[in-house]
Amino acid sequence: VISSEGRVGWKAPSNIALVKYWGKKPNQIPANPSISFTLDACATTTTVTYKKLDKISSDFSFDLFFDGKENQDFKPKIQTFFERIDKYVPFLKSCHLKIETSNSFPHSSGIASSASGMGALALCVMSIEKQLNPEITQSYFNRKASFLARLGSGSACRSIEGPFIQWGKYGGIKESSNLFGVSYPFKVHSNFMNYHDTILLVHKGQKTVSSTVGHELMHNHPFANQRFEQAHNNLDKLEQVFEKGDLNEFIKIVESEALILHAMMMTSLPYFILMKPNTLEIINKIWSFREATNTPICFTLDAGANVHVLYPEMVKEKAIQFIQDELVVYCENGHYICDRIGQGATKI
Ligand code: PMV
Repeated sequence: VISSEGRVGWKAPSNIALVKYWGKKPNQIPANPSISFTLDACATTTTVTYKKLDKISSDFSFDLFFDGKENQDFKPKIQTFFERIDKYVPFLKSCHLKIETSNSFPHSSGIASSASGMGALALCVMSIEKQLNPEITQSYFNRKASFLARLGSGSACRSIEGPFIQWGKYGGIKESSNLFGVSYPFKVHSNFMNYHDTILLVHKGQKTVSSTVGHELMHNHPFANQRFEQAHNNLDKLEQVFEKGDLNEFIKIVESEALILHAMMMTSLPYFILMKPNTLEIINKIWSFREATNTPICFTLDAGANVHVLYPEMVKEKAIQFIQDELVVYCENGHYICDRIGQGATKI
């Protein structure tokens, strides 16, 4: 029986895809498998204070506080999330929830908080389930948290564990699933441990196209099937790359994936461009620097103008110097975030 009241809390990280998820089927089923680095510094912290209601209510009963202030703007998103997960967590309707959430990164930074936000909330819901059923195992807990998070925002299912998460049915990994993310099961060379991701905030405004619309546009997209096949091929290639620690091949796959994501947007109908001139300036600078110095530094992009600069621990000083000297000038108000690979969500 659920105790009459209690408080649960989780800090869940954001993640950055190396092979991108772009295109989905109903119920947040990805059209192709993806793999991501779990981040560390960019995270959402959420606590849920629950109180058992005398009788099951017909709708969800919750208050939302964002950065300490009551917030109405994000409530519809959470309402939709709860509706989607209702049948898997029926106990939610028998509680009143006070949800308090905050992000470690500025709200208007152009960094999506949906992955870390939905990840943290899904974990809180699972902690309430654990009160009901203390026997559930750690692996069931994590899988179901990832499953629930996916229903909030697809990529959120990759924000529960770390450091490398694979989501989507893929031949090479037998435990992979379209329903939740799993830890990458193969050998990963030490070159990829402690990888860094410096996020350059090129444009902090709202995106002109939501990812929901973007995924939709992959239906009837002229290159959709080739793209989905290519994601599988890139995952195949990454297996070797991770095992051997081949940074040059890694860079080719990761940069190509970023550009393909944007190429898909540019070739959909309607078409759109989310990169800004400064995004391209940064990409060109990275390419020149890499060629001139042979430093294994590369970029990836999300569905926006910001650039994620990826580099291994062994070139950290050189990379940071280059970023500060040559790239920060392209950031809005000189803002950037130093992040790195993380180990997954933590209980608070
Ligand atoms: O989780 P969504 O529906 O916001 O989709 C995000 C998709 C990308 O961030 C562009 C790529 C990815 O795999 O994370």
